[in-house]
Amino acid sequence: MKLFTTRNELKEALDAYRNQGKSIGFVPTMGALHEGHLSLVSQAGKENELVVVSIFVNPTQFNNPADLERYPRTLEEDMKKLATIGDPMVFAPSVEEMYPEPDTRQFNFGDLETVMEGRFRPGHFNGVGQIVSKLFDVVMPRRAYFGLKDFQQLAIIKEMVRQLHYDIEIVPCEIVREADGLAMSSRNQLLTSEHRAAAPVISQILFEAKKLVGEKSVEELTAWVQEKINKSPLLEVEYFEIVDDNYLQPVKTWDEPTVKVGCIAVHAGKVRLIDNVILEKH
Ligand code: PAJ
Repeated sequence: MKLFTTRNELKEALDAYRNQGKSIGFVPTMGALHEGHLSLVSQAGKENELVVVSIFVNPTQFNNPADLERYPRTLEEDMKKLATIGDPMVFAPSVEEMYPEPDTRQFNFGDLETVMEGRFRPGHFNGVGQIVSKLFDVVMPRRAYFGLKDFQQLAIIKEMVRQLHYDIEIVPCEIVREADGLAMSSRNQLLTSEHRAAAPVISQILFEAKKLVGEKSVEELTAWVQEKINKSPLLEVEYFEIVDDNYLQPVKTWDEPTVKVGCIAVHAGKVRLIDNVILEKH
């Protein structure tokens, strides 16, 4: 497997492929790879002739310095995992390589960034926009793969592609879960064993909520989910919102003609977990 650490080297290698008319599938990640990431890489492998995986813990999207410091960095293991499923090109640049000077660009994602993650993690999506656009400019893929686990991020990326006129197809990928339902996340490995044992309650309640659509009103169901999860002394809901899948604005009734998604963020000790579930297709 080829590992690149500079933009120029990767660009040069990819130009050669692109000139041969080969399609490039791109999977941006922050590493500490798990089955969720690998499913994106596998899908990209099926749909493209060449796959590029980036591994870069992007400082500009962390609004909490302790979170940035704690974030797991496991490049060697990541490379081994990738080698078991294919032969992608890996791009693992340094911070100086991606930010030789501060990125002062300010994106405007409108209402998409004022809710949920955007509200509780100010600046987060601006940082995501900065790094993903930089990576798109280097890789220039035909398709890029993003997990539905980060539902709001996916919406933000689609909006960025629209605003900046990138000719890139954004491919959404299903959430991969542990056997007990917990959505896979690089942050799961930072959970204490007690918090890890408590964490599956999050997805269990989300799946139960799916069955209560219509029986409970939107407002009742929202309160019910928060209450059920907060019952665990180890979990604390930061937000749970039922939103439409396009603009991510809160829905008021089940009758609204949109797909509804229940999005949640929960503190499990020092670790913040997010998850979501499609509650109803209209
Ligand atoms: P990271 O959290 O490493 O996730 C990389 C990609 O893997 C994202 O598209 C994310 O949605 C997807 N992913 C993570 N867990 C998943 C799961 N359990 N099932 C399916 N897909 C999953 O998201 C980021 O990195 C960064 O914000 C990034 C886009 C790389 C920009 O820095």
